[in-house]
Amino acid sequence: MADSSAPREQWQSHWGFILAAVGSAVGLGNMWRFSYLTAENGGAGFVVLYLIFTVLLGLPVMLAELTIGRGARSGPIAALEHYGGRSWRWLGAVFVAAGFLILSYYGVIGGWTLRYAFEAFTIGFADDPGAHFAVISEGHGSFAMQVTFMALTIAVVSGGIGAGIERVARIAMPALFFIMLGIVVYAATLDGASEGYAYYLNFDLAKAMNLDVVVAAAGQAFFSLSLGMGAILTFASYLPKDSDLANETIVISFADFGVAFIAGLMVFPLIFALGMQAEITGGTIGALFVALPKAFASMGAIGRLVGGAFFVALVVGALTSAISLLEVIVSASMDAFGWERRKSALLGGGAVTFMGMASAYDIDVLGAADTIATNLFLVGGGLGISIFVGWVMKDPIAEASGGGARSPALGVWRVLLRFVVPLALIGILAQSLPGTWATITGLFGLG
Ligand code: PHE
Repeated sequence: MADSSAPREQWQSHWGFILAAVGSAVGLGNMWRFSYLTAENGGAGFVVLYLIFTVLLGLPVMLAELTIGRGARSGPIAALEHYGGRSWRWLGAVFVAAGFLILSYYGVIGGWTLRYAFEAFTIGFADDPGAHFAVISEGHGSFAMQVTFMALTIAVVSGGIGAGIERVARIAMPALFFIMLGIVVYAATLDGASEGYAYYLNFDLAKAMNLDVVVAAAGQAFFSLSLGMGAILTFASYLPKDSDLANETIVISFADFGVAFIAGLMVFPLIFALGMQAEITGGTIGALFVALPKAFASMGAIGRLVGGAFFVALVVGALTSAISLLEVIVSASMDAFGWERRKSALLGGGAVTFMGMASAYDIDVLGAADTIATNLFLVGGGLGISIFVGWVMKDPIAEASGGGARSPALGVWRVLLRFVVPLALIGILAQSLPGTWATITGLFGLG
């Protein structure tokens, strides 16, 4: 047990919490993952599905996590025990395991973004970005950058909630937003940008009806909103009792969708205006790290500036998300072992980095880890939370409204959590399971 005589840390302000939670949600998921999945799954149809899932599944699960976290005031394992008894601790442990898995490869990609940002301002973008990416994405170079990125993450989390995480989010999130807007405006001025918009915003109903696209969109909604593994739950455990959780849910979720949408308005025109579409329409993990640098390299000095700004924004987004992933592990180990924050951050972060070596040295492991984490852990975790709050928790509506008025919208929320969300997630899990299983057996060389 944590030292109960020390008061629990708290966010210094309402906006500090909002910015940190948006910082968790907004990250590589909105830019790297969103653009390559949108390209792979045929444009606007995928985006619409992702929006539908954000509203139908994301909002209810986000409110559920916020409710559990604020009420229990502890990390995920102790929080589930608080409301469900010891027999629910396992679900919290699954969340922490998901945090380990996601941060293990997230830190590797974070390292790539760090390298690109640094190179943009020093040596510029490589003439052959495909070859460059092949060199930096696997091996010692990739591992070294992962370690650097993880060291930054550990440093911020060690600083604590207010002085570390909140302070970084307050600077990082507005900076990210303005950089993105600047690039969107710049991209709009390029000849041929309209082809990028046409590709991005073209709605192909036939493609969107494909079940694999549906699965990808649901997984993306969970990944991008940081749901299904206790990150939002953990951040909410540092909230004061009187916060308006329904309001926070809406602000965080739509800010996250908005940033993803804007990222598309930045990425697609840039890529199409410079004729790099073949690089991204294949839709692979490396697409963003090859197509965009190629576009930037062909733009001369301005390309270095815009490209440098772009990768700085990516670093910022990745860092604030990685912080929230590490905080899940840190708060759970502070609860469980009574460790200090600094020790938890160092040991937890160190263990994650070690586990991530597998992804740093092999991009196929990275891709497999991402599929397993998203389609199995996050979607499964969302299912667990909806069943827990919908069926196990005594009076979730009272907990969510924190003693205030029981708004009718919360009645709808409970019905969604009891029936709609679990049924939808069971369907999505069933659809993705064969593919995820093939990924797992493939990873261990059994397939
Ligand atoms: N939401 C983050 C992103 O989009 C990733 C993340 C997933 C963070 C799960 C925390 C928990 O990049």
